[in-house]
Amino acid sequence: MLGTNGSMRQTTGLEEFQNKSPVADLPLPLAATAEFLLCKGYEIHGLIRRASTFNTDRIDHLYRDFHDPQARVYLHYGDLTVSGALTDLLQEIRPEEIYHLGAQSHVRVSFDMPEYTGDVTGLGTIRILEAIRKTGIATRFYQASSSEMYGAAPPPQSEATPFQPQSPYAAAKVYAYYCARNYRDAYKMFAANGILFNHESPRRGETFVTRKVTRAAARIKLGLQEKLYLGNLEAKRDWGFAGDYVEAMWLILQQERPDDYVIATGETHSVREFVEKVFARLDLDYKQHVEIDPRYFRPTEVDVLLGDAAKARRALGWQPKVGFDELIAMMVAADLEIAGKEKTLVDAGFTCSGRI
Ligand code: GDD
Repeated sequence: MLGTNGSMRQTTGLEEFQNKSPVADLPLPLAATAEFLLCKGYEIHGLIRRASTFNTDRIDHLYRDFHDPQARVYLHYGDLTVSGALTDLLQEIRPEEIYHLGAQSHVRVSFDMPEYTGDVTGLGTIRILEAIRKTGIATRFYQASSSEMYGAAPPPQSEATPFQPQSPYAAAKVYAYYCARNYRDAYKMFAANGILFNHESPRRGETFVTRKVTRAAARIKLGLQEKLYLGNLEAKRDWGFAGDYVEAMWLILQQERPDDYVIATGETHSVREFVEKVFARLDLDYKQHVEIDPRYFRPTEVDVLLGDAAKARRALGWQPKVGFDELIAMMVAADLEIAGKEKTLVDAGFTCSGRI
């Protein structure tokens, strides 16, 4: 166990390290959170679901075999759908802080798998809260609440804006949000909500729109694919950089009292604008490559998200450092590098997955 400034720090990023599966994308700021906490001197424990293949690639650069004396990241098998094991795990690890980022986090998929989404994203949260209550450990709990909870509520959205969820995922997140608040009031737990607006990075899962676009544009540029199929280009999102948002999550748990905070940039852009800028960066005209496929539309869409993070600025002293254009540049550069490696393989006669 490593310490920082003489004090031991332990955190359980419950489900931070959950395995990739056909139905659950990895929670977003996975590696960024782990990197940030390691820099702060934390020892990290993550929950991982058993799979028959290796699928921890986003944290492989942080992981060391547990025989290594320098190891500070530990993975434990478990699942948010099984409560007993969570209680045992908390009893054993006794973490000082819990960053609960685990979820079936894909909004479109939540319409295909509403029951599973409710179980993992909604009930999974109360299972952890109950595990904390039953073990009686003194820990600080961070609930990854989402701007999706605002749904149809008109922008700008702040902590005072009533939720109008528009998907099974958002409804499950609203449930989890109120569970955290309820356990704070009922049991005096340190349970805080970070209501994060969309946060992106080069490590974003490939099926979320920003990464889907940067990855495809880079592959199109290098001749590895021709077309990109998307859904609604008119939706608007408040997109920030995941690295900045991880710092906000940590700050939320360092406050004297638990509270709820919106974390956002205060700027909104349409999907179309994002696509246009990405392709233009690569000297491409998106209109020649992008086609609309209705299967990517959602039965109910969230039209505009635009966060008002005044409270976080005031109380946490937090503000985003990376702007929209810089975020695009970062993601395009990273995907261009990956596409370059893929092209080297293809040119040498190897086949790549071909998934677009
Ligand atoms: N994924 C996806 N794929 N989205 C598309 C596509 C497409 O082909 N075409 C258009 N979109 C639109 C969606 O309809 C949505 O309006 C917008 O792009 C953003 O979609 P996502 O990137 O999938 O993110 P999200 O806003 O639905 O949800 C993400 O952010 C939330 C925070 O507000 C997820 O990370 C959630 O887990 C998170 O809570």
